[in-house]
Parts: sequence; C-alpha cells; structure tokens
Amino acid sequence: MLKAVILIGGPQKGTRFRPLSLDTPKPLFPIAGLPLIQHHIKACKRLASCKEILIIGSYTTTTMAQFVNDMQIEYSPVIIRYLQEFTPLGTGGGLYHFRDQVRAGNPTAFFLLNGDVCADFPLEELWAFHEERPNALVTIMGTEATRQQSIHYGCMVQEPTTKAVTHYVEKPSSYISTLINCGVYVCSLQIFHTMADALQKEKTGFYSNGQGSPPPGYMSFEQDVLSPLAGTNKLFAMQVGNWWSQVKTAGSAIYANRHYLELQPRPQRQPGHVLPHVHVHPTADVDCTAVIGPNVSVGEGVTIKAGVRIKESIVLNNATINEHALVMYSVVGQGASVGEWSRVEGTPSDPDPDKPFAKMDNVPLFNSEGRLNPSITVLGSGVVVPAERIVLNSIVLPHKQLSRSFKNEIIL
Ligand code: GDD
Ligand code: GTP
Repeated sequence: MLKAVILIGGPQKGTRFRPLSLDTPKPLFPIAGLPLIQHHIKACKRLASCKEILIIGSYTTTTMAQFVNDMQIEYSPVIIRYLQEFTPLGTGGGLYHFRDQVRAGNPTAFFLLNGDVCADFPLEELWAFHEERPNALVTIMGTEATRQQSIHYGCMVQEPTTKAVTHYVEKPSSYISTLINCGVYVCSLQIFHTMADALQKEKTGFYSNGQGSPPPGYMSFEQDVLSPLAGTNKLFAMQVGNWWSQVKTAGSAIYANRHYLELQPRPQRQPGHVLPHVHVHPTADVDCTAVIGPNVSVGEGVTIKAGVRIKESIVLNNATINEHALVMYSVVGQGASVGEWSRVEGTPSDPDPDKPFAKMDNVPLFNSEGRLNPSITVLGSGVVVPAERIVLNSIVLPHKQLSRSFKNEIIL
C-alpha cells in the first residue's frame, strides 16, 4: 500500500500569486476547471495502490473543509485528509510532525508532492524506479533546466549509471547542474529516522521566512534532509521529460491551465464556437456566436454573451462577459463583469520557446524601478469594467468599478 502527502504551505505563502489568492487559497485556485491540488489527487488516484492522501499545510481546517469533503466523495475509497500545522514548519517539519499519520497502516512508501507544482505526474514510473533500488530512502523527480534558471531550484549532481544523487544544493548561488528538483518524491518510511537525526542537528540552512530563528520543529526537507543524504547512496533522481512547471505567479496559472487542458480529453459537445483545449462548466451560459479558445477555462455560472472572443484565459465563477468584449491572457475574477466592446488583455509569461528546457520566469509584480512587470491582466472578484474600455497588462484589485481605460497599472 502507498500513501501520498501534499504540502500546501499556508496563507503566508503564495505572495506572488496575489491578488488571485485573495479570495481563494492558492492550492484551491481552479486551473483547467479543477482546484490546483486536485490535479495531484487525480494523479495519485490513478495508482491503484495509493490508498490515502494527506494534505499538510497551515491554512485553517475550516478553509480546507469543503474541498476535502468534496474530494473524499469524488475519490472514494481513497482516504483524503487535511492536517493543519500549528505554525509553518517548513517542507520537512510538517511532514515529520505528522509522521505517525503517514506511518499508520504501514504503507510501503509514500509520495511527497509540493502543492505548487503542476505536471503530467509520472507517479507509476517514479514508484517503479524507487522500488528497483532497495537502498533508496528518497527518489526525486528531476528535470532539465537552463543553466541560468537552474539556480532558482534545488540542483542535483547524479552518478550517471546508478542515478544516485552525489551532490544536492538548494537554490545555489552559482551554477551547479541543470538537473533540478521538481518537488515530487517517493520516500521510504525509514526517512523519518533521517529526519529525526536532522532535527537534532543545528540548522545550517536559511529559514525561509527570513525573520528571526525558526520555530521548534522547523525543518527544510531540501536543506536538512536531501543535502545530507546526497552521496550516501540513499538518494536517487529519476529524470523526466514530461511537462512540469511551478505555479508561483498569476501568469503561471494561465500557462498551467493550457497544459492541463491539453492533457484532458476533449468533450464531445460544447456550447458556442469552442476551439480546442477549453473547459466550460456545464452551468455556464455561452452564446453560440462567442468564440472561445484555445486554452480557456470558464467557471460555474459564468455568462458569455454574443460576439465575445476569449483566448488563453481563466474566467472564474459567476463572471459576465458582455457583448463583443475580448479577453486575452487574463484572469477574470469571481462575479466580475466586462462591458460591451471592452478589451481586457495581458502579456503571456511563457517560457522562452527558443531555449530548450526553459522554465517560466516567475518574476515579481514590480521590477527594481518599482514599475509593474508585464504580466497577464487580473480582474479581481466583483470588478466592473464598463463598456468600450481597454484594460491592458493591469492588476485590478477586488470590487473596483473602473471609470476609464488602464495600461500597465495596479488599480488598488
Ligand atoms: N505544510 C507546509 N508547511 N508546506 C510548506 C511549508 C510549510 O511550512 N513551506 C513550504 N511549503 C510547501 C509550499 O506550499 C510548496 O507547495 C512546497 O512546500 C515548496 O515550498 P517552497 O518553500 O515554495 O519552495 P520552492 O517552491 O521555492 O522550492 C521547492 O520546489 C522546487 C520545485 O518547484 C524546492 O523543493 C526546490 O528544490 C524545487 O526545485
Ligand atoms: P492569430 O490566430 O494569432 O492570427 O490571431 P487573430 O489575429 O486571428 O486574432 P485572435 O485569435 O486574437 O482573434 C480571433 C477573432 O477574435 C477574430 O475573429 C477577431 O476579429 C476577433 N477579435 C479580435 N479583437 C476583438 C475585439 O476587440 N472584440 C471582439 N468581439 N472580437 C475581436
């Protein structure tokens, strides 16, 4: 029997995802019609031997209750539970704190998944790879990155024949290797012994909060567990070529949306004039003259009127896109409304297509001069864009009623 643990952090994390995370916690933000971590759950459910999924984070149990309940019903008999950390304990601390829950029922091993990645998760292959190596305490799913971008991830040096990781550095200050950690692992249960040892040692790694000393029980899985395991023949990496990306910024939601939609089978009948890779919630009301796609997700209760054009966007629940409006590279928040003949457009932040293995640059909202970096346009929940306005590369905070057009602005 196998289990899975999904790490989702808490309300303090995911700051680059604001304002999208203002109404919905980032792990529950809908991508291709499903909350971000439901894609992880779906991938785990595909493995018949995976019987229990534990979600660990510091969001309140109330925040997570509805989602967990829905998942429990949808993926029964797999058991899905949320475990709340009393304070953020890092990528290793929360896991170690709840070790008895992970060990209960004596699983052979467990998957450990960062909640803020999206991928075509090859969990079956990862498990087979781990099983073939009886010494392995952890198998890391790795992928190739560019030299320049690799330093923003965990970097690994690998022994080419055995695939053992001989050197692991989390976000190194200079180049080490283009093989990076995807934040997807298989762990054997003995890892908890290694973690117990790590907890005894004085922490050498940085405390991600950067403010004061870490709370008791804090542990970074990468720095306190993976780094010391490298070179002991107990840490391995399986390199994959599958699609994989982090979800850090609002722009990465559009990118992830496209890839998850491409992985889904195309429904046979959809309303309006729908191009490939579109998810329309059955309760959405789409006029038959609207042109939607590619790469669009339309949520519950959305109204899309005549002559509308939407591409590369996410339209959240109960939004209204009025006659002949255009929405491109944007997220339209819950209950927002775009007026007739208005244009809401952002800039894609996709990986450089000319560079093999390039990943998204998860740039912050502002550049060093305090200017807004070009990004997708985000209309917060309840925003009203009147008729015949243009909103370009802008972030509009919830409940604003725009009175004019905007370009490259944050509207607070
Ligand atoms: N429960 C819990 N508690 N989860 C946490 C905590 C915590 O205190 N801190 C972080 N997480 C969760 C985050 O929500 C996220 O899903 C995951 O753990 C990774 O945490 P980050 O701190 O955001 O790390 P990162 O994304 O910059 O880097 C990690 O992922 C990369 C791949 O996406 C590292 O594992 C890198 O080595 C890796 O390359
Ligand atoms: P490419 O496929 O990249 O060549 O794009 P395109 O130039 O065909 O335009 P796009 O895919 O963005 O738009 C497709 C359709 O949307 C076309 O039929 C356009 O006429 C229409 N369109 C473009 N801008 C607007 C607009 O502001 N309002 C409305 N209602 N439709 C628009």
